[in-house]
Amino acid sequence: MEAGWGAVACTHLEAPASHYREGAVCLQTGSGFFRKDSRPSRDLSVLLATHQASEAQRPLRWLDLMAGCGIRGLRWGLEALPESRPDLELWFNDADPNRSSLLESNLQPLQAVSGLALTTTCWAAERLLRQAYLDQTFFDLIDLDAFGCPNALVQSALAVLRFDGLLVLASTDGRSPTGHDRLAAVRHFGAAARAHPASWEIALRLQLAVLAREAWQFGRGLEPVACFSEGRTFRLVVRLHQRMSADEEWQLGLLARCERCGDQAVQALLKLSGWRSCLCTDGQGRWAVTGPLWIGPLQKSAFLNQLLNLADLQPVTLSSAGRRLLQRLQRDCGLPVCCWSTAELSSRLSLSGPPPLNELVHSLLRAGHQACPSAVMNGQLRTDAPLAELFQQCIQLMAGDR
Ligand SMILES: C[S@@+](CC[C@H](N)C(=O)[O-])C[C@H]1O[C@@H](n2cnc3c(N)ncnc32)[C@H](O)[C@@H]1O
Ligand SMILES: [Zn+2]
Repeated sequence: MEAGWGAVACTHLEAPASHYREGAVCLQTGSGFFRKDSRPSRDLSVLLATHQASEAQRPLRWLDLMAGCGIRGLRWGLEALPESRPDLELWFNDADPNRSSLLESNLQPLQAVSGLALTTTCWAAERLLRQAYLDQTFFDLIDLDAFGCPNALVQSALAVLRFDGLLVLASTDGRSPTGHDRLAAVRHFGAAARAHPASWEIALRLQLAVLAREAWQFGRGLEPVACFSEGRTFRLVVRLHQRMSADEEWQLGLLARCERCGDQAVQALLKLSGWRSCLCTDGQGRWAVTGPLWIGPLQKSAFLNQLLNLADLQPVTLSSAGRRLLQRLQRDCGLPVCCWSTAELSSRLSLSGPPPLNELVHSLLRAGHQACPSAVMNGQLRTDAPLAELFQQCIQLMAGDR
């Protein structure tokens, strides 16, 4: 494969000092936005593309909608495409005209990949998506790596996603879905958002609710594949299905939490029937309700396992941080919905420190409950055990009774 001056395939042992190396590519990141720390999310995007390229029996079209320096799409082209199936259209777009020449030079190695058709544009994402719809151009994979809240683009992105296609979505709007800007939560999510110790998970669930509602408007179904955050960027991978599954509407609900006693309760919108009393003994507790949000699974564990297996065949793609992320997500499908912070449990019980998470999970499982460590936030577990029992288990565990 020939290398251009802007980007080189990493078969070259030495990359120029100004180049950044990731996966199988070396490229210039330029002066615009680029974050090395986002590598795990890019690794995942490449593995999703690899999986699709290995499974789909038809030509594929992938869109890096907010490409920046082009690293995601470049990695798709150089890592995800087996030589046996070059029938791929790769689209790159970034609205910033100052990125165009960098993008062009970074993408030069793709010129040498036979059978790969490249399209690069410098358009507002809205325009590209709407033009694609008018032209009836559909994509199998769209990576929408946005600044801020991407919700204004969700409908037009889903409208040009093929059935069974994947949308990889990023949002850096942390304030509204975590209860820090309740007015913006109403505007962006059509939802109430209240402060909660599992705030990153709540933000992901609010985002999923927006995605599901938009898919349902087209009569389509939506399935979460992977959802995660490091607190700054909220990342979701979802699959669009031609039809809704039988119980999809049951996945929208409300989550209530009492700040005084810490109790939580969840209800599906379809079965909404008032709220039980919280654990406050004086009857003075008040539920703060968040939602509508997605109360279904967050991860598709079996699929993530397949991606991990694929990564073993393609070791250049998955960084150790990416592997840790996928392994963590694969162990926690995201149910039950209620997450509990061990630090909060400890402080409510005035314990000497947080109860050991894995031991607490095991005690809850032994007691017949569902329980697992949360893959979304460290130091948290999810369980269907009532809070009173959770307290009891923590006390016994810290007293060394078990
Ligand atoms: C988060 S950066 C992309 C980073 C890149 N995907 C990566 O992995 O390094 C977001 C990019 O979106 C571009 N952008 C912002 N708003 C846009 C819009 N409405 N349409 C198209 N591109 C946009 C910005 O110029 C910026 O390069
Ligand atoms: Zn209460």
